[in-house]
Amino acid sequence: MGVIASAPAKIILFGEHFVVHGEPALVLAIDKRVHAKAEFRDDARLFFKSVNLNLSGFFEDEKFEIEGVNGGRTVKDARSKLEPLKLIAKKILEIYGEKVGLSIEINSMVPVAAGLGSSAAVATAVTAAISALLNIKLTNQDIFQISYEAEKVVHGTPSGVDPAISTFGGTLLFQADTGFKPIDVPVDLPLIVGCTGVERSTGVQVAKVRALKEKYPQVIRYVLKSGREIVITALSALQKGDLKVLGDLMNINHALLYGLGVSDESLESLITAARKEGALGAKLTGAGGGGCMIALAEDEKINPVLEVLQKRGGTPFLARKTDEGVKIEGK
Ligand code: PMV
Repeated sequence: MGVIASAPAKIILFGEHFVVHGEPALVLAIDKRVHAKAEFRDDARLFFKSVNLNLSGFFEDEKFEIEGVNGGRTVKDARSKLEPLKLIAKKILEIYGEKVGLSIEINSMVPVAAGLGSSAAVATAVTAAISALLNIKLTNQDIFQISYEAEKVVHGTPSGVDPAISTFGGTLLFQADTGFKPIDVPVDLPLIVGCTGVERSTGVQVAKVRALKEKYPQVIRYVLKSGREIVITALSALQKGDLKVLGDLMNINHALLYGLGVSDESLESLITAARKEGALGAKLTGAGGGGCMIALAEDEKINPVLEVLQKRGGTPFLARKTDEGVKIEGK
């Protein structure tokens, strides 16, 4: 008998990177989910399998062993990918107070290392599945905290925005010092996501921006300030459903991110194509350096934009916002 939990991916509408430096960001959960199934084992090992990554292995005390071919990865690489999940399991087992073996299987609809928060969605789904299997009642705040600790292992100094949106769902205004505030968005936001297929590390992109900030503190101070104003202006446009203003702000936000050096050719190609095809605005989403971009378009332009992104070699899809955060799917 097992427990299945799921958690949503996310799109950062405005404010990625600036959020790491204390500015606000606007983020929404989308209808692409990660599913994690937790089951008891007969032995005391912790077994993790990611179906999409073709990755699996056992942890036993401090030892790690891979199972199967693991997509040609080294033991070290496979271990580093699964380590955050082991930390989650250990943390929950600590609360449980007994050493039991667990098998966790992860199935995901979310492209990996693409700026859509796949690792945070995995972390929150795994946290929810294990705690439910062990009959431990965790609040959403607890799930967020445990997943956030795991995210720190993956990304170095994450802002916490990814585990927050995966846990709570909906649309959030997030700021590191004040936390997150749910935002009511009364309109449907027809967001087109275009993934470049270029994998990148969030940690590397965040470090790049940090280095630039250290080198040019005065210049970057104003870039961050602009980022804040974009979020504030976007907030009222979102509440009014003013897509035109949101599109303009996406373009300005992207220009700032480009200036910070976190765009790349693959993103620029898709962003330019979407704008030419009539999108109201387009920008990278998440850490950049590859990964995905988003475009906002009026209904009649959605299909042409999807088509042009495909033609340019991207993997496009239409994302719908979802209010559903992490949840138990079944026992
Ligand atoms: O690309 P993702 O999904 O890892 O999002 C990263 C968002 C950043 O603002 C760049 C980093 C963060 O921790 O907020």
